[in-house]
Amino acid sequence: MQFQSWIKRALVGAAMLIAAGTLQAQGVVKLGLVAEFSGPFAQYGQQMLGGMKAYMKLNGDTVAGKKIEIIQKDTTGPAPDVAKRLAQELVTRDNVDFLVGFGLTPNALAVAPVATEAKKPMIIMNAATSIITTKSPYIVRVSMTLPQIAQPMAQWAAKNGVKKVYTVVADYGPGLDAESAFTKAFQAAGGEMVGSIHTPLQNPDFAPFVQRVKDAKPEAVFLFLPAGEQAIAFMKAYKERGLAEAGIKLFATGDITDDGVLEAMGDPTLGLITSFHYSASHNSPENTAFKKAYAEANGTGTRPNFMAAAGYDGMAAIYEALKKTGGSTDADKIMAALKGMKLMSPRGSIVIDPETRDLVQTVYIRKVEKTNGGLYNMEFDKFPDQRDPGK
Ligand code: PHB
Repeated sequence: MQFQSWIKRALVGAAMLIAAGTLQAQGVVKLGLVAEFSGPFAQYGQQMLGGMKAYMKLNGDTVAGKKIEIIQKDTTGPAPDVAKRLAQELVTRDNVDFLVGFGLTPNALAVAPVATEAKKPMIIMNAATSIITTKSPYIVRVSMTLPQIAQPMAQWAAKNGVKKVYTVVADYGPGLDAESAFTKAFQAAGGEMVGSIHTPLQNPDFAPFVQRVKDAKPEAVFLFLPAGEQAIAFMKAYKERGLAEAGIKLFATGDITDDGVLEAMGDPTLGLITSFHYSASHNSPENTAFKKAYAEANGTGTRPNFMAAAGYDGMAAIYEALKKTGGSTDADKIMAALKGMKLMSPRGSIVIDPETRDLVQTVYIRKVEKTNGGLYNMEFDKFPDQRDPGK
């Protein structure tokens, strides 16, 4: 008798545990964050996660009755095999509902087939080679594409009397995209290309490249390098070799004057003109709220940059999609909710193009200026409603 009641109690207890487990499983949405958290590109992951945290600071950690949980994985740098393995583990072991993050193009490309096979929405918060979104129907990109940014820079330079340009780009997807979009738009506007250099993605030494540009005496250089340490190294070589003094103008995508490193690059950046979708100096109530939440969630040590803004917007897209699906994480329902979604971002209003799953957004022309708060990219011209011209 006593034994029987013991069994009964054990069974009831077990049933309650299972029910609680099921409830918990139903109540959590897991985001597998695959990004660079160590090595020379470590700030990519930090910035994206910082932006995601800023969003959660403002909007809470629960949406549509589900608690949002982030599981963070470090690719350690441009390491497609590592990125793919991490994504596979997140899907099979951790049972994540979304794959998010992806700073570098090679990592995003390696994970695209995992998203397709596992049917998991993949939210790209940086990787900006045009072709990436075509690699899986489950990809949405909330950052930019290099052609989207480089084309307005070419059009602006041509309109402002620049005639002969030399291009310097990192030798991989986004660099080659930036070069071809700039070249096409600049030539279409009557400009002439006078040379091009491709620099290695790993451990570049810019001094010889910069010297080669100086010797060619172009009127201006158009530059794309992945944000962060490379940009600092390039500006150092540019200053040391005296290109500005030689009268060679520099135009770039805003990756170069990334808000995360602009102060570290210092005065050689003053006056530098770039095209980009986000500046920490963007004047809007949404950006003010974003910067405040970013500082509260992450400390005041670093300024949020464009990857932080994309982290924030990626979270906004996920929250809004979950509201629309009533908390369902079914990949097809989530994708339907994301396509055509309009959001008020810290950068201005953005729309997820339902066809390309890339953003339609304003691209700004900015100039580095010294303000009370230090060096900033100050927006002074803009190209509204830019799509990715690379597709
Ligand atoms: C990329 O790898 O796609 C990438 C990395 C850094 C950038 C832009 C694009 O600043």
